[in-house]
Amino acid sequence: MTTVHQRYTLTCLPTDNPYLMDNWRPTDTEWTASTPDLEVIGEVPRDLHGVYLRNGHNQVHAPIGKYHPFDGDGMIHGMHFEGGRATYRNRFVRTTGFLAEEAAGVSLWPGIIEPRRAVRRGWGSIGAMKDNAGTDVKVHAGRALAAMSQCSEPYRLDPVTLETLGPDPAWARRLGDRGICSHFQVDPHTGEMMFFNFGERAPYFNYGVVNARNELVHYEPIELPHATWPHDLGMSQHHCVIHDLSMFFDPEGLKKGQHRLKFHRDVPARFGVIPRLGTSRDVRWFEGQPCYILHLANTYEVGDEIVMDGAIQTNPVPDLSGLPKEGYARMHALLSMDLQETRMHRWRFNLKTGQTREEDLDDEVTEFSMVNAQYKGRPNRYVYNALAKPEWKLDGLKKYDWQTGRTQRWQAPAGCFVSESPFAPRDGAVDEDDGYVVTYITNLVSGRGECAVFDARDIERGPVCRIILPGHIPMGAHAVWTPAAELKVPA
Ligand SMILES: [Fe+2]
Repeated sequence: MTTVHQRYTLTCLPTDNPYLMDNWRPTDTEWTASTPDLEVIGEVPRDLHGVYLRNGHNQVHAPIGKYHPFDGDGMIHGMHFEGGRATYRNRFVRTTGFLAEEAAGVSLWPGIIEPRRAVRRGWGSIGAMKDNAGTDVKVHAGRALAAMSQCSEPYRLDPVTLETLGPDPAWARRLGDRGICSHFQVDPHTGEMMFFNFGERAPYFNYGVVNARNELVHYEPIELPHATWPHDLGMSQHHCVIHDLSMFFDPEGLKKGQHRLKFHRDVPARFGVIPRLGTSRDVRWFEGQPCYILHLANTYEVGDEIVMDGAIQTNPVPDLSGLPKEGYARMHALLSMDLQETRMHRWRFNLKTGQTREEDLDDEVTEFSMVNAQYKGRPNRYVYNALAKPEWKLDGLKKYDWQTGRTQRWQAPAGCFVSESPFAPRDGAVDEDDGYVVTYITNLVSGRGECAVFDARDIERGPVCRIILPGHIPMGAHAVWTPAAELKVPA
């Protein structure tokens, strides 16, 4: 059966904003649909059990001020695989802000670019925007957890039905108005979740740990010299790595209420290695070349070293001089990973010597790294990235094998774009890459989205299975694969 759960009137359309059109165009429908009613090209693997969840921004109402692609309402798309069958659902994260705007029928909060237009208290590190919870999604303690990049309340959802259950009832209130930032980390071996938040007032950064029974067991302020703008958190077996990078708000401007991010080319990036249950006093700070980092691939320990792999940006704020203030050319530049000099990079922090060693791992622009989740925080061999064209268009996949140095690529057909593409182990898998890579494809040619499944050992062959969705799916933010065994709430 294919059913419409709910349909929305998208008053954000029509628009001239490219981040609400084409590959970014929001969908107006929440669907529930299963095979065999969903068309399948190939065969749904019978040895795949679990759910692929992908979050993303799907704006409903006409925005207040200029819309940025990180502003839109959070929507999760889930494909649940079970014994050769697949069921697709997509649902909004029904946050407090989403419900208030739904009731009002209009936008009530501005986005990340124009916080000065706020007329009511909002959420996020600036405290002005809607809690869209549209950036990240992971499963912890048997429930999906969604949050936005600028920090929002931690929203729980049923990982299969995608029903919004509300802010986490066990610990969300203990975080005050700070919430959690996207890119919390779940250790698959202990079930613990490590998270952080940040803001403009001291403490500029907090670090926390929630255990496998969903109890907040650790929440500590981390001392920083100024307000920072982190996006990810490294997690190894015994440590986390805090990012205090070279791109941050000008402190003097902040005092005047200005939120202009600046890349400080002469300020080294700082990385704080903290024991999993450590405090600010326990942090060992390491310096690296000036940079910004959106997303890490993995962080692990080898001897005295913490190894951190991720996508470095050595020009995160490209030169905007000469670009018109009106229109979207500046936003294009600020979202162009090629101009930002994005590429895979490795940092090694030596706990004995205090030294940092760095090296580039690739010179091609790729981002949105995924590893086999069982290897999160442990040494890994394989990474699955998205190829990234200018304007944040993800148009293919690249698999890295750090052991041999070999790579594999799959280029999406013209008019098609991929999502963040996690690894999904085959039932009984032993080897690190024995399984599948799963992604959603935004197909502007057919107008209907797809869920594509690749053999992780041979992504160059193209998808072994394409499940055609009932409607359009816009490009999104972050994704996770969760095996069936982890979809139960611990007793
Ligand atoms: Fe992110």
